[in-house]
Amino acid sequence: MNILAIESSCDETGAAVICDGKILSNVVATQEEVHARFGGVVPELASRKHLEVIIPTLQTAMEKANVTWKNIDGIAATYAPGLIGSLLVGLTSAKTIALAKHLPFIAVNHLEAHLNAHLIDAPQFPNPSIGLVISGGHTSLYLVRAFGDYSLLGATRDDAAGEAFDKVAKLLELGYPGGPLVDKLARKGNPDAFTFTLPRFGSGNQLDFSFSGLKTAVLIKVKEAKNTNTFDDTFKQNLAASFQATVIKIVVKQVFEAAKIHAAKGIVISGGVAANSLLRSTLQTEADKRNLKLAIPKFEYCTDNAAMIAYVGERYLKMGKQSSLKTNAVANMEIGTDS
Ligand code: KG4
Ligand code: ZN
Repeated sequence: MNILAIESSCDETGAAVICDGKILSNVVATQEEVHARFGGVVPELASRKHLEVIIPTLQTAMEKANVTWKNIDGIAATYAPGLIGSLLVGLTSAKTIALAKHLPFIAVNHLEAHLNAHLIDAPQFPNPSIGLVISGGHTSLYLVRAFGDYSLLGATRDDAAGEAFDKVAKLLELGYPGGPLVDKLARKGNPDAFTFTLPRFGSGNQLDFSFSGLKTAVLIKVKEAKNTNTFDDTFKQNLAASFQATVIKIVVKQVFEAAKIHAAKGIVISGGVAANSLLRSTLQTEADKRNLKLAIPKFEYCTDNAAMIAYVGERYLKMGKQSSLKTNAVANMEIGTDS
C-alpha cells in the first residue's frame, strides 16, 4: 500500500510517500526565506507560496519514492489545526487528487501526527505514555493510552514555547527563526546569570504552560541592559542561557508531573523545539532517573513534515477509516478533549 501525504499547515510545504510503515520519501519545501525579513510567518504569503510549490513538491516526493499515480493507493492530508489559507492549499489538492484518481482520502490532525512521529522509526513504544507537542504554534501535553486514544492534560495559556524562543531571539537581535539561534548562543552563557520565576496556575490546571511572563521578564532585562550600555555579547549569552534553562525547567516539571500522575511508562516529545539540545539531554537524564523510556523523533520528523501525516494516514486507512471529500480545513482544533 503506497500512501501519498501532504502537509501545509504553516510555512512548510511537505509531501511524503509511505509504504507499509516505511517512508519512501519525505520532501519539505521551506518558506523560511520568505518570512525571515518579517521576523515571523505572514499567513497570506505562506498560502501563496504553498500554491506555487505544492505540485512540484508532490512530484519530487513521488519521483524520490519511485512511484507513479498507478502505484498510489490513498491520499492523506493535514486538515487541522493551522493557518487556514495554508491548510486549504494542501487539503484541497489532496481532495482533488482523491476525486480525480478515485483514491481513498484521509484527513489527518497535525497534532496527532506530531504525537505519533516517533513511531515511524520505532513502532513499539510502551503506553500509557506522556506526549508533548512543543513547537512554534503549540505546547500541549497529552496522555497517550494507545494509537488514536489521547487525553489533553495541559496546554499553553499564552505563547507556545517556540514562539517564546522566536520572540526572545528578536529581543536579542539574533534573527529568525530564533530557536536554533538561542540554543547555540545559550551554550556560551551562564544559565544561572538571571533568575526567572516559574509560572503559577492558582486553582487552574496545574499541567498547563505559560511563557508570556518569562518573555516579559526577558524584555525588562533587555531594556535595562540597553539603558546601562551593557547589551553586549556576554549579556546576550547569559540571558539566552537563563531564558532557555527556565523554559526547560517549566517543560520538564510538567512532563514528569504528568508521568507520575498517570503512571506513564514512556515520554514522547515532538515539534520544532524538540530539536533543542539542552531540552533533549535534560529529558533523557530525567527519564533515565525514573526508568522511563524517552522517544524523540529524528529531526526531520520533529519539525513540520508530511512523513508524520503519511504515517497516521496510513494507519487509519489500514483500519478501514476514510474521510469525506467534504472535509474542511479547521484553524483551531485540539485532540483528546472529548474523553
Ligand atoms: O514544528 P515547527 O517546525 O513548526 C511549527 O511551529 O509547527 O517548530 C518551529 C519552532 C520555531 O519556533 C523554532 O524557533 C523552534 O521550533 N525551534 C527551536 C529549536 N529549533 C527550532 N527552539 C529551541 N531550540 C531549537 N534548537
Ligand atoms: Zn507542527
